[in-house]
Amino acid sequence: MTSYASCPPQHITTPDSVANVLQLTDLHLFPDPDKMVAGVNCHDNFERCLSQAFSEDVRCDLIVVTGDLVNEVKTEIYDHIFARLDATGIPYVCIAGNHDVTDEIGEDLPFEQRKFVAHAPDTRLLSDFRVQLNHWQLLLLDSSVVGEVGGRLSSESLTWIEQRLKNHDDPTVLALHHHVVPMQSEWIDNHLIANSEQFWQTIQPFSHVKSVISGHVHQEFAYKQDDIQIYATPSTCYQFEPQQDEFGYDKDAKAGYRWLKLEANGELSSRVVRLAEVSASASV
Ligand SMILES: [Fe+2]
Ligand SMILES: [Fe+2]
Repeated sequence: MTSYASCPPQHITTPDSVANVLQLTDLHLFPDPDKMVAGVNCHDNFERCLSQAFSEDVRCDLIVVTGDLVNEVKTEIYDHIFARLDATGIPYVCIAGNHDVTDEIGEDLPFEQRKFVAHAPDTRLLSDFRVQLNHWQLLLLDSSVVGEVGGRLSSESLTWIEQRLKNHDDPTVLALHHHVVPMQSEWIDNHLIANSEQFWQTIQPFSHVKSVISGHVHQEFAYKQDDIQIYATPSTCYQFEPQQDEFGYDKDAKAGYRWLKLEANGELSSRVVRLAEVSASASV
């Protein structure tokens, strides 16, 4: 079977000119598949999200994984994830989150007492990569900053975005790990992409930008700015409490994933699906 990790898809066409995109985000897998965080087994939840999504009556045309694939930067965890995604037989693309380039030592400690260890990203993670989906384009961006938790888009990335938007007037979805508008949550808004203003200035002139999707915030979020639909998506493992200035797990929210439907007429619709029968109750 073709490994999409080593040969990511660049063109996807579907018979009905509709593309169904499955967004999975913030897998946070550990080397130990039994490892629990906040009462959640991240390894099992990833499997359950995949299984549940594929049990739905939806043809999946592309899987987009928007960062934080691992909780410890170890090649063997990526090997497992990419083998699992290869086994689906569905094209997929993965981009980096902060946990893919920065190990946090002391995650049980208050944030300011943790140590941060820099890692080069796994070479299978994509950066500034374009996928043509029927007559849509998906632009995959890398907002990770090696050794840091917060995000930033490089000047090269911003130039690349501008060029792609100038060269292709197809309806466009941009995907990156970090969020691009505040979530009314002080601790997590400290990790907003640092140059969000530049990002918005770059994309605002292009009316064919339809949506920006991200992960990182471990919660569902939808917001419209300048006619651009902004979505954040629940993690496949544990969730964070929304609209809180201090860090906290959301004990009631279940893991989930997002579907995006890219219609032939340029319309986009989306929905989040939560895992059934999975307890996300936190033990902290
Ligand atoms: Fe995350
Ligand atoms: Fe993150």
